[in-house]
Amino acid sequence: MSHNVCVYPGSFDPVTKGHMDIITRAAKLFPEVVVAVLINPAKAGSFTVEKRLNMLRKACAHLENVRVDHFDGLLVDYMHKTGAKVVVRGLRAVSDFENEFQMAQVNHQMAPDVETLFMMTSPECAYLSSSVVREIARFDGDISDFVPPCILEDVKNTLTGNNQ
Ligand code: PNS
Repeated sequence: MSHNVCVYPGSFDPVTKGHMDIITRAAKLFPEVVVAVLINPAKAGSFTVEKRLNMLRKACAHLENVRVDHFDGLLVDYMHKTGAKVVVRGLRAVSDFENEFQMAQVNHQMAPDVETLFMMTSPECAYLSSSVVREIARFDGDISDFVPPCILEDVKNTLTGNNQ
């Protein structure tokens, strides 16, 4: 049963078209995808967790088998709590590899029953990151190519201080 579920964890500060690429493709491979937002007390982020969850829910509303959740602490504890066995992560450039390799190894060491699967990000999203989106939006640049259309205004308003 739990093999039907994959968890796509991340900060999603905010969700980008790169994240949506992975979520959409994972949703074709697994009966159920849980997008899990890390609540990290050590890293406040630019968007509140509430806002990140709302934006993700809007962006994933058309995907029937995707649901959005949050977790704190260790990812492997969340996996054990929910019974999910598969973590999905996207890989963009070589620069992602080292960090992802370390996380997957550490997680495997702590929880050998949990598997991490990597998907290569589609080429058109390879350069995209939440931090790039934040940087551009803060200076009023055009981010419409980078975030799902339904959250465009949310992102702009929050980052330009129009709607805190
Ligand atoms: O979107 P991000 O910031 O690249 O996602 C990183 C995330 C949330 C997947 C990772 O930091 C994580 O799983 N944090 C939870 C703490 C944990 O389990 N750490 C052990 C792995 S090194």
